[in-house]
Amino acid sequence: MLLPVIMAGGTGSRLWPMSRELYPKQFLRLHSENSMLQETVLRLESLEVREPVVICNEEHRFLVAEQLRQIKKLSNNIILEPIGRNTAPAIALAALNAIKDGDDPVMLVLAADHVIHDVEIFHAAVEKAIPFANANSLVTFGIVPTGPETGYGYIQRGDSIGNLDEGYKVKCFVEKPNLPTAESYIASGEYYWNSGMFMFRAKKYLEELEKFRPDIYEACKKSLCELPDGMDFITVDKESFALCPDESVDYAVMEKTTNAMVVPLDAGWSDVGSWSALWEVNEKDTNNNALTGDVFLHNTEGCYINTDEKMVAAVGVKNLVIVNTKDALLVIDKSQVQDVKKVVEYLKINQ
Ligand code: GDD
Ligand code: MG
Repeated sequence: MLLPVIMAGGTGSRLWPMSRELYPKQFLRLHSENSMLQETVLRLESLEVREPVVICNEEHRFLVAEQLRQIKKLSNNIILEPIGRNTAPAIALAALNAIKDGDDPVMLVLAADHVIHDVEIFHAAVEKAIPFANANSLVTFGIVPTGPETGYGYIQRGDSIGNLDEGYKVKCFVEKPNLPTAESYIASGEYYWNSGMFMFRAKKYLEELEKFRPDIYEACKKSLCELPDGMDFITVDKESFALCPDESVDYAVMEKTTNAMVVPLDAGWSDVGSWSALWEVNEKDTNNNALTGDVFLHNTEGCYINTDEKMVAAVGVKNLVIVNTKDALLVIDKSQVQDVKKVVEYLKINQ
């Protein structure tokens, strides 16, 4: 049976000031009454899968356990990273943990911070991918791109495998290309965005990782601790894991492997990587404003406004993002939301 592995160790800094190191975006209720992590787990319901494994930073262990408990899920499958080393090591730890009893499950690797509107279509894509992963492919899920975004991986479609549009060989995988390259990919019509979700056998992933990044593979093997009886969390040794290189699965494995394939996914996917992306996916009023909290508006259009406590009033403004939290207020033009990272950089140096 499929083993879902949910990666929940990112910092989500482009959603500052709601998303903080102590409370990153995957734990926030940004799109529904559930947090993005909870939505990720609930989205698996009705698929035939095992109890999901969540891999996150040890700082967040009680937060994750509590959020799982709230949706009535077991919380004894949480792997704790003492430090973030990005997704290639995170997936390796989950794979090593999955094979330790001689098993070799197909893992469905998911990000904890995506919105997917059409769950049935998502399920159908997952079902399509299973035979490919069983046959030792590293499956990606490809999104039809809507523009030359540079924050995504790009997947060039090769020959079709199976029935029409079921899946394709990956000709080329390029993680986060620069703008001219992304524009040329879009113009060619041959590329998908990488959704950041993957499916492969645990041993196949480890074999590919060992081939291309033996340093990461060895560091992860040394780091995974035995699970002592009665312990709820699966722990990782800090000293050995600190020596593990920091690299994403996209660079470490997906760009290099010759066994990748892509299953197209058209399910209203968004990685909600910025405030404008959140505005896109949230419900809007007749003037295209997406609002959360106590807000008064007059002559205001196309805004995203989210306030925790204080009331926000906006008059005669257009296309602004206003995010109001207890200790910080963000006002930014909706077309410049990527530059929230400038604030985060400033705070890192000055706080
Ligand atoms: N456990 C763990 N540890 N999880 C992590 C870590 C880590 O060190 N770093 C990131 N994650 C989690 C994040 O919480 C998120 O759920 C997921 O892994 C992806 O990480 P991001 O940091 O959000 O990646 P990205 O958005 O820059 O790029 C990836 O996703 C894009 C689509 O959203 C890549 O796979 C791109 O190719 C892809 O297009
Ligand atoms: Mg992301």
